[in-house]
Amino acid sequence: MSLAGRTDKPAAQPVPVRIGGFGGAAALADFLKAGGYDLLTDATHPFAERISANAAFAAETTGIAAIALRRPEWHRRPGDRWREVQSIPAAIEALGPSPRHVFLATGRQGAHHAEAAPQHHYLVRSVDPVEPPLALDNVDYVLERGPFTLDGECDLLRQHHIDVIVAKNSGGAATYAKIEAARLLGIEVMMVARAPAPIVKAVDTVEAALAVIDHLFPPAMKRGV
Ligand SMILES: NC(=O)c1ccc[n+]([C@@H]2O[C@H](COP(=O)([O-])OP(=O)(O)OC[C@H]3O[C@@H](n4cnc5c(N)ncnc54)[C@H](OP(=O)(O)O)[C@@H]3O)[C@@H](O)[C@H]2O)c1
Repeated sequence: MSLAGRTDKPAAQPVPVRIGGFGGAAALADFLKAGGYDLLTDATHPFAERISANAAFAAETTGIAAIALRRPEWHRRPGDRWREVQSIPAAIEALGPSPRHVFLATGRQGAHHAEAAPQHHYLVRSVDPVEPPLALDNVDYVLERGPFTLDGECDLLRQHHIDVIVAKNSGGAATYAKIEAARLLGIEVMMVARAPAPIVKAVDTVEAALAVIDHLFPPAMKRGV
């Protein structure tokens, strides 16, 4: 397993882990060849666009089999008050000129975009602290790693008088509770849409990924992934 090294204390994994960038797509291709890998599985976050593009390029140029694990997007349900936007800056702009209480649930990497609209009160949630802190007067931070619960999210939104959430359409269950909580409390969501993904065979679930792997490498010939 390869991690980018963004979080200080990554969750423990039951497989060998390497940490840090490869140095670009060509370097990733070299890494795969040198390691004798048979398969690359892109299991990165749907908004980690560069590494997914690099992974697709590296698989293509080396001829190594590749699959992507892409959790389905969330879809609007009755009661949802979503505005779909194309980026975090577009979401911040869409908040409008009047001061609002904004839950910025997009992680620390995009949080600095809030500085473009300092009139709002922000609640920023991330796994690790936002460094440097945002150049804003009205900002609270909460350090927390998902999964999150519906009750917990409702409490957080009420406690901070949130009237709008900025969220990425990440999909999956771990961070969906804030979307459900917004629906229950009638809170607007600026939903940042995903960019088109690179063309790699994609599956929705870990089970489907394992089935593809078994198909590509029937158990008798498996040498390791
Ligand atoms: N973006 C999000 O919203 C988000 C949310 C939760 C978790 N994550 C996870 O955090 C990691 C970084 O996300 P990002 O949005 O910064 O990625 P990114 O913009 O797509 O990638 C930037 C660079 O970080 C390195 N990198 C990214 N993922 C890597 C990995 N798994 N192993 C080794 N190097 C990696 C690569 O460096 P080199 O070019 O030097 O190889 C890549 O070019 C990803 O693994 C992603 O799954 C991202």
